[in-house]
Amino acid sequence: MVRIFEQVLADLQSVVGEEWVITEEKAIERYLYDETAYGVRPPPAKDIIVVKPGTTKDVAEVMKIANRFKVPVYVRGGGTGLVGGAVPTMPGIVISLERMDRIAIDVDNMVADVEAGVTLGKLIEESERHGLMFPPHPGDEGATIGGLIACNAGGSRAVKTGVMRNYVLGLEVVLPNGEVLKLGGKTIKNNMGYNLAHMFIGSEGIFGIITKAYLRLYPKWSYSATMVIPFESRVSAFKASKKILASGLTPLALEYFDRRVIETSARYLGVEWPVKEGEYFLMAILAEPLEDVLYIEVEHLDKVVREEGALETFLTQRGDEQKQLLKIRSEIFTSIKSETFDILDTTVPLGVVDTFVEELVSIERKYGIWLPLYGHVGDGNIHVHVLKYEGFSRELLEKISEEIYSVAISLGGTITGEHGIGYVRRKYVRNLLGDVWVETMRILKRVLDPNNILNPDKVLPD
Ligand code: LAC
Ligand code: ZN
Repeated sequence: MVRIFEQVLADLQSVVGEEWVITEEKAIERYLYDETAYGVRPPPAKDIIVVKPGTTKDVAEVMKIANRFKVPVYVRGGGTGLVGGAVPTMPGIVISLERMDRIAIDVDNMVADVEAGVTLGKLIEESERHGLMFPPHPGDEGATIGGLIACNAGGSRAVKTGVMRNYVLGLEVVLPNGEVLKLGGKTIKNNMGYNLAHMFIGSEGIFGIITKAYLRLYPKWSYSATMVIPFESRVSAFKASKKILASGLTPLALEYFDRRVIETSARYLGVEWPVKEGEYFLMAILAEPLEDVLYIEVEHLDKVVREEGALETFLTQRGDEQKQLLKIRSEIFTSIKSETFDILDTTVPLGVVDTFVEELVSIERKYGIWLPLYGHVGDGNIHVHVLKYEGFSRELLEKISEEIYSVAISLGGTITGEHGIGYVRRKYVRNLLGDVWVETMRILKRVLDPNNILNPDKVLPD
């Protein structure tokens, strides 16, 4: 093994240059983990070489070397995933795309031409600097475009904007054998051949390495408002969320959380949750290109929720206040991460979100535990944290997670709406997706990656 590694190392160095190949233990530490909760995070392998290619051609050469020596390759973007997808779980190569961070905004065509290592934060900033916007907000702004596309990331705006898949006009992909596949371009429509790009979007990196993308941008929605809508009762909050969606109004984001969860996050950030009334909250973000339209929507939304018993709505149009509210919502995960065994990503059809949450409350009662739950209620996507309760064994924590999964599935839902399968959820794949799905994916994987070296132990079950 060690001898092979020395040869791999030398070949990698000759392709990308010595300074971009890293093996020193301290320096590779930050390439070994992602954001997966501590209770379920997979241990990384020991013998890892981190390589930082600067171009698509470099990536292709790295794959050729990996094939020659049949060495596993793990591709890394921002490392913000929650299911161990970026963790190098077998000895091999980590390709970090951090150097590939060029971005060009084509204003006339409303397209962003981005390399895979560009962060979401940079895409947002650059688009806005050119008077445009990237409509979805698929998660942590440190995530990178390659990872966001490979994992078809969702986020809180999916209710209105859809997910990553909906913005990809073109891709450049390095196939596992080192060939470069160019797909699509800057046109909105393109029906020339089957759209193979979608085979890589959401593949979680097992079919190819996305090195570049053309993403669709839109003119900026200049006016936005955030409304925090408090309720005394959970049932009313969920009824109101359904009413909002049925009213014909689609907020940019429609989130649910309760006081305990949101105050935990505010405390963690050292700020105060500004809404004093109510125990259960909906947070709606509205955004429009015209201010008058925004006002009409705010009024309409307020009327709809009041009919369901909402208390005084906390409304702000100030940019800094809106940012602060969203920050408190976004940091819920981080604020309870250290006590978390696993964060679930259960998603159910819109009509049964309330039933799902009531069932979760019964599970809380049954075990006498707190299940922090919050999420993108407008998508039926509810995150549940199973915490490391004192005296609970790992088996019991897994049993609780699985009980939650069975409730979601019995309601016609799924165990992941946006976080994906990665390493951590593989054990549910065969059961939930079926043998035919697994076999079909295996056939595709074998054709594209005969040596099974690209993310070899991710997504598909052993
Ligand atoms: C969120 C992440 C955990 O919604 O998906 O905060
Ligand atoms: Zn989420």
